[in-house]
Amino acid sequence: MVDQPLEELLRDAERVLADSGVWSPREDAETLAAHVLGLRESTLEPRLPIPAAAAGELRALVARRAGRIPLGHLTGRARLGGIDVTVNEHVFVPRFPTELLLAWGLSAVEKTEAPVVVDLCTGSGAVALAVGHARPDAAVHAVDLDEAALACARGNAAARERDGDTPITVHRGDVADSALLAGLDGRVDLVLANPPYVPLGTRLLPEWGEHHPRTAVFGGADGLEVIRAVVDCAARMLRPGGALAIEHGDAQIDVVPGLLHATGQFSGTEGHHDQENRPRYTTTFRKAQA
Ligand SMILES: C[S@@+](CC[C@H](N)C(=O)[O-])C[C@H]1O[C@@H](n2cnc3c(N)ncnc32)[C@H](O)[C@@H]1O
Repeated sequence: MVDQPLEELLRDAERVLADSGVWSPREDAETLAAHVLGLRESTLEPRLPIPAAAAGELRALVARRAGRIPLGHLTGRARLGGIDVTVNEHVFVPRFPTELLLAWGLSAVEKTEAPVVVDLCTGSGAVALAVGHARPDAAVHAVDLDEAALACARGNAAARERDGDTPITVHRGDVADSALLAGLDGRVDLVLANPPYVPLGTRLLPEWGEHHPRTAVFGGADGLEVIRAVVDCAARMLRPGGALAIEHGDAQIDVVPGLLHATGQFSGTEGHHDQENRPRYTTTFRKAQA
């Protein structure tokens, strides 16, 4: 079998992916090619001759992506806050909008020495580990209730530690548990959460509707079940002046401020949009006095 130029393979892959409704066919084809070839996407050279075995591997991955399996589940990797984490089909693949929640959180504790940070609903641990990477002086706690997510987060935490980052602590816990991390009550400087927030029954793209764990995506009948628990949990854990950022769905930007207000514990609440100008997360601060 003769080697095939990379560009030819990429063109075929792009067509297959576009036909199956993948929204970024060229980018996905390049990511999969880079993964197969062990290269960075930016260094892919169109005329590079690709041996038959690698071309076959790429076609097989493209076929799976055309079946709408999430890209991260195929490459086994995702990037957030300048670090790579490992992901698998049992955990949520960190998304680009979460970069903004992370950046807001880091800026909120910029002037706090040795901040205590809690990442609720941590999944792969990406948010917590990105905080730990940016702030080696922070004490970072990551919480999830799902065993597969916890195994993934612990694996990623061990890998970051081997790369020299300060260790984080991964906890098994339910944000609805009023005793969760009770030892941190009133001591936390920053709570970050990207909880499941999609209302049950919502039709989603197959990447999320079929190929992500339901516990990572759906937040009860109105989508707010876990968000409500996050609000209560943060009200209990944060010190006066402590910061909270919650990622949520588009329509929830009008609802989450009301949930925060109802506790009587927060002020300075603001809604934020993501890189595509969609309403995506809400931030607030724990009042000095309840
Ligand atoms: C949308 S994923 C977010 C993962 C990660 N924070 C990220 O941005 O990539 C939501 C995560 O919340 C976890 N989860 C769902 N309900 C929970 C609960 N009641 N308590 C703790 N974790 C929960 C799921 O297991 C899943 O890992």
